[in-house]
Amino acid sequence: MSNGPFQLHPIGWVESSLLTRDAAPRQGDEGAPDAWIVFEQALAEGLRDVQPGGALIVLTWLDRARRDVLRVHPRGDSSRPEQGVFSTRSPDRPNPIGLHRVEVVAIEGVRLHVHNLEALDGTPVLDLKPVLATCSERGAGGDRVAACRPAPRLAPIAALYGELARVTGSPVVDDDAERRLLERRLAELGTATGPARQEHWTRDSTSWGFSCVT
Ligand SMILES: C[S@@+](CC[C@H](N)C(=O)[O-])C[C@H]1O[C@@H](n2cnc3c(N)ncnc32)[C@H](O)[C@@H]1O
Repeated sequence: MSNGPFQLHPIGWVESSLLTRDAAPRQGDEGAPDAWIVFEQALAEGLRDVQPGGALIVLTWLDRARRDVLRVHPRGDSSRPEQGVFSTRSPDRPNPIGLHRVEVVAIEGVRLHVHNLEALDGTPVLDLKPVLATCSERGAGGDRVAACRPAPRLAPIAALYGELARVTGSPVVDDDAERRLLERRLAELGTATGPARQEHWTRDSTSWGFSCVT
């Protein structure tokens, strides 16, 4: 077992018009401006096969975060009860690692133009990984990566049930537990959070979810 500390070297840095924490949306799909990730020239080979239109997970080091925070009001909203940081996406946490799902718009050498990145200008980038397609889409041994889909606006609950029924081919789901979960998720997301993505639709079950925007 290794107890650390561990050495991490940035693989690149964010170039963005976002300069202050207050100016940034809480998540990239809540209105972040287009940004660039500029990689170390020596790592160019590692960018081979990254394609425009693909979805990527970017891990960042949120270098202007506080590391002594263990409890926060989610989304900085003091009207909401405090939660432990590990149940939130707060940037302030002992190891301030940011997780961002971005869409690749273009690649120019070691410069990656991306949508949906809310990290501030100069944020160090630690890693880049593809978003994998769902298990059933990947198939045996496959590793197909997810393409980006436009994020539909958060729909009213009735429309979500309709969409669920259309996708699964089943009659409208009205199981109590599922309905309660759905309503709780919608309440958590709130209408103020803007677009939310519907994810994990599957034909053979009613399992589904939203991307987290906490
Ligand atoms: C709520 S965090 C979410 C980060 C990431 N999407 C995640 O879920 O891990 C996003 C906020 O972090 C703050 N932030 C962005 N870049 C930062 C940086 N380099 N250092 C500290 N805070 C940063 C901004 O205030 C932004 O609204």
